[in-house]
Amino acid sequence: MALRSANVTVMIQAAHKAARPLVRDFGEVENLQVSIKGPGDFVSAADRRAEQTLRRELGRARPTFGFLLEESGVIAGEDREQRWVVDPLDGTTNFLHGLPHFAISIALERRGELIAGVVYDPIKDELFCAEKGAGAYLNDRRLRVSGRSDLAHCLIGTGIPVLNWPGREQGFAGQLERLAGEVAGIRRLGTASLDLAYVAAGRLDGFWEFGLKPWDVAAGIVLVREAGGLVGRLEGEGDLAAGTLVASNAAIHPRLVQLLRVNH
Ligand code: IPD
Ligand code: CA
Ligand code: CA
Repeated sequence: MALRSANVTVMIQAAHKAARPLVRDFGEVENLQVSIKGPGDFVSAADRRAEQTLRRELGRARPTFGFLLEESGVIAGEDREQRWVVDPLDGTTNFLHGLPHFAISIALERRGELIAGVVYDPIKDELFCAEKGAGAYLNDRRLRVSGRSDLAHCLIGTGIPVLNWPGREQGFAGQLERLAGEVAGIRRLGTASLDLAYVAAGRLDGFWEFGLKPWDVAAGIVLVREAGGLVGRLEGEGDLAAGTLVASNAAIHPRLVQLLRVNH
């Protein structure tokens, strides 16, 4: 049984509170697919409602902490050193299309360092949580990244840049081409926080994506690290939530980075 700090307990309770209406809304989305207008506005409202719930619950439990919220942006707290980094609905495109793979992602940042993360998939009722120095867990099970060291046996997750997403000019097609020749499979699951949680759980051996935002990755970064994996930036030193995030078990990390580098 995982020993949870008071902060992690607060994060889990808030995630559960926001998840219930989100799951109800997801059921409604399936009906709206056939309507002329489609479920777009309805999903935006569900997203905003989930964010309000998280803000209210986290704010009530820790009134002095600040926030970085996907929809509402930065909200400074009285406590300048601690803030919640929140994505109320990660995997919006899946949600919108009735694909049951999305999550709520909450991280706690202290003096600029990520110290705890919770990623909750309410459809599968899978709660991933991690705290610096205390390990990563899926529900009550301790997580470790996979032990695979041969890329030919590895399953790698990614995000495919579409429309005007910047990653297309960052050489995504070349990366895909180079990796495809060396790995067992490549997946685009559509929820970055869960991609990272799956690396932590050993379901994926690695993951990369260009252009993710802090709220997409903050909780997942803590999960991967606490499960014994490595998280870095393809472009070298600098903000992890900028450029290309690469996460994997330690054994394949150097080769993965080498293959992904544009001028490799
Ligand atoms: C998106 C998802 C997706 C990733 C995108 C993100 P959203 O977040 O995490 O997997 O490829 O880059 O923007 O918009 O669903 O919260
Ligand atoms: Ca997101
Ligand atoms: Ca979102």
